Amino acid sequence: MLLIDGKKIASEIKQEIAREVQQIKAQGGKTPHLAAVLVGHDGASETYVAGKVKACEEVGFTSTLVRYEDDISEATVLNTVNELNNNPDIDGFIVQLPLPDHISESKVIEAIDPKKDVDGFHPVNLGRMVLGMPAFISATPAGIIELIRRYEIPTSGKNCVVVGRSNIVGKPISILLSQKTYPGDATVTLCHSRTRNLNEIIKASDIIIAALGKPEFVRADMVREGAVVIDVGITRVKSEVTKSGWKLIGDVKFDEVAPKCSYITPVPGGVGVMTIVSLLKNTLLAAKCEIYP
Ligand code: GUN
Repeated sequence: MLLIDGKKIASEIKQEIAREVQQIKAQGGKTPHLAAVLVGHDGASETYVAGKVKACEEVGFTSTLVRYEDDISEATVLNTVNELNNNPDIDGFIVQLPLPDHISESKVIEAIDPKKDVDGFHPVNLGRMVLGMPAFISATPAGIIELIRRYEIPTSGKNCVVVGRSNIVGKPISILLSQKTYPGDATVTLCHSRTRNLNEIIKASDIIIAALGKPEFVRADMVREGAVVIDVGITRVKSEVTKSGWKLIGDVKFDEVAPKCSYITPVPGGVGVMTIVSLLKNTLLAAKCEIYP
């Protein structure tokens, strides 16, 4: 069994990005600039956004954080999106989700200029990705693809099951792994809460992407010998052992599944740590106008 070390890969990629930023600056180019819009005080969102700002500093990007209280109007958020779209100093930006109920997430996402949509949530970027055109790919699927690529895990002709059909993980990763390229060329089955014979489908799979958000759902008896297991789950549970008082649990019962796998991602330290790096990569691509020349 080989452990897929997301922490190590993420650190390598950050160093690669930092080197490239140094070169850009040395040649008199503009420093890549990421902006984030954060509405309200949701604990997880605060943590994610703080991590994104810190990562920008680490690689030498400029970052801007626009904060609003959660009673801010939808019109004000849309206005901010419009300003960021038109600000030539901002290469890319994100609006942290979830938004309060009175603000339409789809309206806000659709207002973002696809050329600056480094989250890859805009329908134009999702559509371009489906068509195999250059597009910003959202952070989690991009992180999974990068891990598969860096560990040179074979995917062509493999049976792959994706468990979970979310717009930001399940749907995009199922499409990416079925594209005519590497990583890809897999035969992908997308499963969800209404899937019949889920256990048999998982058991017949060479690659299992668990992204359903149910802690320790995938058990050893569901996994075939030699499978590749990618665990996207990150459920926060109380813990009496950790200093913080909580710990993260994946969608896979790691201790019993790991011995059966050829490769497996841990939680934490697997897919999760790759997501911020994917955002940095997209911001660099935006700064270099590589997706939309
Ligand atoms: N909320 C949880 N994950 C994400 C993400 O990747 N981007 C944004 N904008 N919001 C999120």
